Amino acid sequence: MKVAIIGSGGREHMILKKIKNHPKISQLFVIPGNAGMREEAKCVNLDITRNEEVLKFAQEQKLDFVIVSPDNPLVAGMVDVLEDAGIACFGPRKSGAILEGSKIFAKNFMKRHSIPTANFWTFDSVSRAMEFVQTASFPIVIKADGLAFGKGVVIAHTLDQAVQCLKEMMEEEIFGESGKQVVIEEFLEGKEASILAFCDGKTIVPMMSSMDYKKALDGNEGLNTGGMGCIAPNPYYTKEIEQECMEKIFLPTLRGLQEENMDFRGCLYFGLMLTKDGVKVIEYNCRFGDPETQTILPLLESDLLEIMQSCANQTLQKEQVIFASQASCCVVLASNGYPKAFQTGYPITYPLTFEICFAGVKEEGGQLLNAGGRVLSVTSIAQTLQDAREQTYQKISQISFEGSYCRTDIGGEVE
Ligand code: AMP
Ligand code: GLY
Repeated sequence: MKVAIIGSGGREHMILKKIKNHPKISQLFVIPGNAGMREEAKCVNLDITRNEEVLKFAQEQKLDFVIVSPDNPLVAGMVDVLEDAGIACFGPRKSGAILEGSKIFAKNFMKRHSIPTANFWTFDSVSRAMEFVQTASFPIVIKADGLAFGKGVVIAHTLDQAVQCLKEMMEEEIFGESGKQVVIEEFLEGKEASILAFCDGKTIVPMMSSMDYKKALDGNEGLNTGGMGCIAPNPYYTKEIEQECMEKIFLPTLRGLQEENMDFRGCLYFGLMLTKDGVKVIEYNCRFGDPETQTILPLLESDLLEIMQSCANQTLQKEQVIFASQASCCVVLASNGYPKAFQTGYPITYPLTFEICFAGVKEEGGQLLNAGGRVLSVTSIAQTLQDAREQTYQKISQISFEGSYCRTDIGGEVE
């Protein structure tokens, strides 16, 4: 079988590691991949914003299965284009990916299907939005409707901040089309949990819970990032909460998808807030999370490729999705300054025996250099979170490049 993974981050590197030795796979491509993956698969430098370019390659190579991993190509309908040409894919079609592609759609979907979420108001006129915030109680949360490189959510603590944010999103259009419409929503308090679920449109199977550390600095200070580390299982996600989520969130979401003829065969990510009034959905993503994927997939004992194919064929019900009952701790090593400006081009040194998921890297003269904000991640699994955490930090201490930065409190004391 010839398989391709679309994407170039740490998440895709972990998917690659899980399937690369699969006996069914004769050839494995990553499009475009990154320099840190080169020894494990063939990286093909195509422009993944152009569905036709990927289709052409898939047809030339006679690919049997394509795993479309990142949000942009999913929202832009890459799966529709490939499947319509007879190429099987893991990943939702455009009609399912809109759950991530439009926050306004997602909020209205939740309302239609009585799925608990923060109260919200939507605006396509900046003057209306400005008027609304004059009388709002703070903090409030302002979200660009469309994809915004993970930067489209602003928690405004004052009227001034809200006004500034609306100006930037709606008038100056810093996120282009994505910010022309906004959702303003109630600020929720509680612990967050990331639940990724396999879904084939008929069956939904939640994976092990995890907790992403989104803030840049220790103690959850600093700016929001794509995620600086992650642990699994999520210490706050109890059996009772799991049950509540199944009844009030996961199954109603699946029914909603069916009722609205949305084709979702892929990974559905629920960003949840465990509030004192019950669990609420903060957001849906139509893909695996990063670094959640690097954290939970090492615990997956079942065959990932089989499960992904079952999602595509709508036979997920027959799959056993089993996770080891161990703990996992993933730490991201970033370029100092991320998520703002940072320097790139520094050589990365690391023991060659380490399993590392590379993300923002490039190669020059056989040497890996940092080339992005999140550069790499390391995950360890162990019987206890404490042990997993120690092993991960022990490894991280042996990896370096000039200006490397990581949080030191991933998996540390939880109150
Ligand atoms: P998102 O990009 O939607 O995942 O949002 C990024 C982060 O903003 C979330 O992980 C939360 O920490 C925070 N956030 C989003 N919506 C809310 C909300 N309604 N109340 C409180 N925090 C929120
Ligand atoms: N780690 C958060 C995300 O992948 O959206």
